[in-house]
Amino acid sequence: MPRRDAARQIEFEAQLGHHVVRHHQSLPPIWFKRLLYSPWKEPSYEMPELEDEESETEKSDFRWNANWYCVALPEDLDKNVPTPLTVLGIPMVLWFDRTQDKWTCFLDQCPHRLAPLSEGRIDENGHLQCSYHGWSFKGDGGCTCIPQASTEGPESRAAASDRARVTSFSVREVHDLLFVWPDAKGAEEAERTPVPLLDELYAEGITRSSVVRDLEYGFDVLAENITDPSHLPFAHHGVGGLRRKQGKPLPLTLQSKGADGFTGVSGGYVFSDSMQSTVEFKAPGRFHYHRVLEKDGKSRESFTCLYMTPTVPGKSRLVLIDAFGVKLPWYFKYLRPRWLAHLQSQDILDGDASFLHWQQVQYANTGASAKEFNKVYFMPTASDRFVIGFRQWLSKFGHGGVQYAAGVDPKIPLAVLPKEKVLNRYEGHTKHCKTCQEALRQIEALRVGLVVAAVLLTASAAVLSSPDWLYARVGLLTVALTASGAAWKLGDVVQLFLFRGYNHHEVGPEKPPMVFSKV
Ligand code: FES
Ligand SMILES: [Fe+2]
Repeated sequence: MPRRDAARQIEFEAQLGHHVVRHHQSLPPIWFKRLLYSPWKEPSYEMPELEDEESETEKSDFRWNANWYCVALPEDLDKNVPTPLTVLGIPMVLWFDRTQDKWTCFLDQCPHRLAPLSEGRIDENGHLQCSYHGWSFKGDGGCTCIPQASTEGPESRAAASDRARVTSFSVREVHDLLFVWPDAKGAEEAERTPVPLLDELYAEGITRSSVVRDLEYGFDVLAENITDPSHLPFAHHGVGGLRRKQGKPLPLTLQSKGADGFTGVSGGYVFSDSMQSTVEFKAPGRFHYHRVLEKDGKSRESFTCLYMTPTVPGKSRLVLIDAFGVKLPWYFKYLRPRWLAHLQSQDILDGDASFLHWQQVQYANTGASAKEFNKVYFMPTASDRFVIGFRQWLSKFGHGGVQYAAGVDPKIPLAVLPKEKVLNRYEGHTKHCKTCQEALRQIEALRVGLVVAAVLLTASAAVLSSPDWLYARVGLLTVALTASGAAWKLGDVVQLFLFRGYNHHEVGPEKPPMVFSKV
């Protein structure tokens, strides 16, 4: 961890220290939960989708690691430093190979003594250098330098050895997205497999905004959440025009389903009955909504495209893309800079995270398998059809759950984390977002500048002791006071990059502003 990150982390841990005890939930032991749920009671409500042959697992040749996963937005990555990443439990490092002008992904393990290459640096030759003993590697994984090796004898040939190579993974950058193929031996298969791009997002006249967030809940809980439009008015009340009163029956229907995922349609949407929405789950990691609103004889379309990546058991990464069929004026990016859009997206993600980490732990504590979801959940309305569609795909084609790399324990922790950890924006986003890091640096610099200006202005006012300078003194002190106030308020903005908190019961009643708790 860079020193700056480490310092911030220590400060953050210290900040939340006294909150941990308050938020920690003690749970009943797992044997007690199993008593509650076993033997299973069949729900009295009929759930037709679960009673056909599809609740059975079929022999499936689906391989979780033989897929492209959208893991990053190059615009938010720093080309000057390596960035750690985890996919299917495999620790990886992304870095920009300037000698070939492309992003590269390695196993985050130096072949020398397994130190994390993500702690390394880009050396003078543009290669990735391990910070432990200084070995360097070029884009294809080959070792280019072993500083300790003699220039004569066997040591001089060590860098050329296959054992000095780093394991590398296929990477593809398409439009503004970065995809990784987590099977290091599957380069040829990766080469002939198209990335799961949603072409409509890149049509003329479409405006996009995107963000990445690491989440303290796993792939299946994340997929349930994003395939469920009915939670929007409640979980996100007060955000982006969503209101609890918009909650209503949503007639979701599945149109097609199979090994590749499913498609569906929603007649009516939370915002308006005249808004039609079609969806597609492109297994395993992409889900999108395509909404069309007919109004005043015009049709307006918008998209929400979500890429999900299983990182480690119980955690996941989301790439969220919102797109609108509107061409925005050139100056809009100054009114709503990218970092501000990221902060606004965090509000939505925090609203979900408050529930989903908890939900995941509760599910795990029942002892039920992923396939037994219908015994744990009661989903009697059509608004859960897409959730059921996803769960059925997972059972039938996805082997009942994510298959992580060999050696990764698939069990998820059975204890609830404090909110300060679940909603930690710094760890989940800011730390690896170059855009937000830069904004944070500038805001902090501005804050320091304002404090210095306030001190200098106050000192100047003190020097002007003559009664003739009374008005000047008052003016200087007024400006100093304003600068102090602005610096104080900027402290709140800095906080938004780190942690904001989210208490659903404090939001409302039916309109913003939202009320948040802060560390
Ligand atoms: S562990 Fe990387 S150079 Fe030694
Ligand atoms: Fe950001």
